[in-house]
Parts: sequence; structure tokens; C-alpha cells
Amino acid sequence: MKNNLKFSPLELELKEYAKENKVPIIFDEGLSFVEAIIGAKRPKNILEIGTAIGYSAIRMASVCNSNIYTIERDNSMYNLATKNIKKAGLENNIHVIFKDALEAFSDVSNIKFDLIFIDAAKAQYHKFFDIYTPLLNDNGIVICDNMLFHGLVNDINNIDSYSRSVRGLIRKLNLFHDELLNNDKFQTAIYDIGDGMSVSIKK
Ligand SMILES: C[S@@+](CC[C@H](N)C(=O)[O-])C[C@H]1O[C@@H](n2cnc3c(N)ncnc32)[C@H](O)[C@@H]1O
Repeated sequence: MKNNLKFSPLELELKEYAKENKVPIIFDEGLSFVEAIIGAKRPKNILEIGTAIGYSAIRMASVCNSNIYTIERDNSMYNLATKNIKKAGLENNIHVIFKDALEAFSDVSNIKFDLIFIDAAKAQYHKFFDIYTPLLNDNGIVICDNMLFHGLVNDINNIDSYSRSVRGLIRKLNLFHDELLNNDKFQTAIYDIGDGMSVSIKK
């Protein structure tokens, strides 16, 4: 997939930091896909699960000035994210919640979201989806990243050589695929973009 993404010096610094420190951030291909959806949908409020260093939150907030609520459970990631968001001058747009997303519902339960971006612990995707989609407006969109997990979810019959924990993760993601595709309250497609992205539109 080709794109014409442009990066600010701060964003390039964050990409470099992520690479050097092995912080998994969204691939360019996935980012251009998410940004296209945000540009078309123009969401007022976005919920992100999994902030890491704030890279995707900064990019998403910059598309059309959306308010971003982003949840991160790791203390050092939270500190880096708040620092980076301040550097980007986006501290009024991006609200970082330092909690496990399994326990942060009450922090955002008074907000309605137009878009939810799930990019945290893969084994918990179905829980995040169930907890937070009641806060989604009609026609709201849920995007999940890493849905194909390096292509392994589509190759589930050939995963014997992987560790038990990786096999467990792949099986959980595969189950989540089925749950999403069988959920008739949402129209879902899973795309082979970046590390695999699902898009579910609330009917
Ligand atoms: C893939 S990274 C997020 C990358 C970020 N969205 C980006 O593209 O710039 C996943 C992050 O989710 C956090 N995380 C994992 N499980 C979580 C949970 N249950 N609650 C909150 N944060 C979680 C991890 O600490 C990690 O920083």
C-alpha cells in the first residue's frame, strides 16, 4: 500500500525512539488507513486503548482536532506519553488515563465516542470491545490493530512451532475474529493492512 504520510520532527523522533526501544507502535500502513477513516468520519471524541508513547494519539488528534481519551496501564509509558503530548502542544486535546483498561470504564462512561481504537493486550480484545462499545454512537466505528498478528491468525493450522503463549494468543485473536464477524450489531471487515486491522461499524 502506498501513502503520502508526512511526519513532524517530533513524530520522527517518536518513531525512532519506538524502534530503538522496541515499543510497538502502529505501522505507517495502518496509520494511513486509520487517518483516512478519521478524515472521512471527523470524530468528535475518540477512545484509544493502549497509548504507549502517545504516537498514534498525537497523529489521530492532528487529523481533525478530535478529543482523544487514551488509556495506558504502564507507568513509564504513561509518563513518556504525557511528556510527548505536551511537546506536541496537544495536552488540551489528548487526555491520558493511567489505568488498566479493564478497570477504566468509569473514567469515560459519561462520554459518547465516534471511534474506538483498540491497540493493547491482544488476549483482552474481546473484553475491551464488550466494555467500551456501549459508549459508541450509532454509526460509530471500532478499529482493532494487530488482528492478523504477523499473518499467524490466518495460518492457525501451522502454529505448532510457536511457544504456548503465542499459540494461546493466536487462538484468542482467531476467536475474536469469529465473534466480530458473527456480531450482527456491527458490520465488520478484517483487512490485511499493517499488522491486520478490523473495522466494525455500529448499525
Ligand atoms: C501496541 S502498544 C500501543 C501503541 C500506540 N497505540 C501507538 O500506535 O502509538 C500497546 C500499549 O498498550 C498497553 N496496554 C496493554 N494492555 C493494556 C491494558 N489492559 N490497559 C491499558 N493499557 C494496556 C501497553 O502497556 C502498551 O503500551
